Amino acid sequence: IEAALTDGPLKGRRIVITSGPTHEPIDPVRYIANRSSGAQGTAIANALVRLGAEVVFVSGPASAPPPLGVTLVKVETAQQMHDAVMQALPADAAVFAAAVADWRAASQSAQKIKKTREGLPTLSFAENPDILAAVSQLTEGRPGLVVGFAAETDNVIEHATAKRARKGCDWIVANDVSPATGIMGGTENAVTLISADGAEDWPRMGKDLVADRLAERIADALTGKD
Ligand code: CTP
Ligand code: CA
Repeated sequence: IEAALTDGPLKGRRIVITSGPTHEPIDPVRYIANRSSGAQGTAIANALVRLGAEVVFVSGPASAPPPLGVTLVKVETAQQMHDAVMQALPADAAVFAAAVADWRAASQSAQKIKKTREGLPTLSFAENPDILAAVSQLTEGRPGLVVGFAAETDNVIEHATAKRARKGCDWIVANDVSPATGIMGGTENAVTLISADGAEDWPRMGKDLVADRLAERIADALTGKD
C-alpha cells in the first residue's frame, strides 16, 4: 500500500464515492430502505486507494465492511448523503455507487406509530434529492469525471443510456439485477460501461475485478490516457 500511495497513477487525485443504501425514517423504529450491501462501492474505493487516490467514502448503513485508507463519512438518509457529497467537493472524480432511496416519508412521526382499531396508517412520500444529477449539472466545481450506476431489471442498455443523458453524467455503469441473474447480494457482477463512445459489455466477473477495471479506467481518464 505504501508504494501505491506514493507512486500510483491517481496520486494527488481526490475522488468522492457514495455507497450503500439510505434509510429514510418513518418513525423512531421504522424506515424505508433500498437493497444494497455496499460491496461494489467498497471494492471500488479499495481499488482507487490502491492506485493512490485520496478517497472520500460517503456511506449509508451498509453491511459490507468499509474500505481502508479512506475518509469515511457515515450517513443515514439521502438528504444527509447529498449534503455530505456537496461538502466533500471539489474533487477530480465522483462515483455514485449508492442505492439511494428515491422517496422519503413526507413527514416523520416523533412517536412510534401504534396499531389502532381505526384501521391502517397511510404513508405519503416526498422525493429525495438526486445527488448524481445535482453533481453532474453543477455549473461551478463539477468534478471532471462523474460516474453513475444504473441497476435495471429490463431493457438495461436502453434505460441506462437514457439515464446517462437525463442526469448529465459522463459514464453509467449499468447492470442487470433481475432476480434470475443472482447478482443482487452476490459476489459477481456483469456490467456494461456506457459513455459518450457507446456501450461496452464487460464479462461477468467478481465485484472486486469489476472494481479494479473501473478504477483503471478512471485513472486512464484522469491522466489523459483515455
Ligand atoms: N442516485 C443518486 N441520488 C438519487 C437517486 C439515484 O445519486 N436520489 C444515483 C445512484 O447512486 C446511481 C444513479 O443515480 O448512480 C442511478 O440510480 P437509479 O436509482 O438507477 O436512477 P433513478 O434516476 O433513481 O431512476 P429509477 O426510477 O430507475 O430508480
Ligand atoms: Ca432510483
